[in-house]
Amino acid sequence: MVERTLVLIKPDAVSRGLVGEIVSRLERKGLTFEAMVMRTMDEQLADEHYAEHLEKAFYPPLKAFMISGPLVAAIVSGDQAVSVVRGLVGATDGRAAAAGTIRGDLSLSNRENLVHASDSAESAEREIKLWFPEH
Ligand code: CMP
Repeated sequence: MVERTLVLIKPDAVSRGLVGEIVSRLERKGLTFEAMVMRTMDEQLADEHYAEHLEKAFYPPLKAFMISGPLVAAIVSGDQAVSVVRGLVGATDGRAAAAGTIRGDLSLSNRENLVHASDSAESAEREIKLWFPEH
């Protein structure tokens, strides 16, 4: 079934010059970029986007990182896009993520892990509304 998912190419990926690499990996898989914008998160958007993590110990440094510079937000679509993108992105901790995944190949951190991808179809619709209200 064709699905949409929200992808954030995080500030570490932008500052490291990895936007093209990440977009390319998703495109080469056959996924489609439906919308894309470069934007710097503010505190309110960070708190809304990461609502489920607000009370977690890792949230304050995660928020500081996510608002530290511009990121690229995108709507990506394709057959089973939510799980397909999560598979290409890899496990949260770049040090443990499998080789061949974006994080496994390019990240050594569980915070600065290059990409966010929605974890379910419901999260995807909630996150797309936040980032792309016109969609
Ligand atoms: P993301 O997919 O954006 O979802 C939540 C983010 O929190 C995750 O990627 C990481 O950037 C960060 N994160 C999750 N767990 C930890 C952790 N234990 N320590 C630091 N950052 C974390």
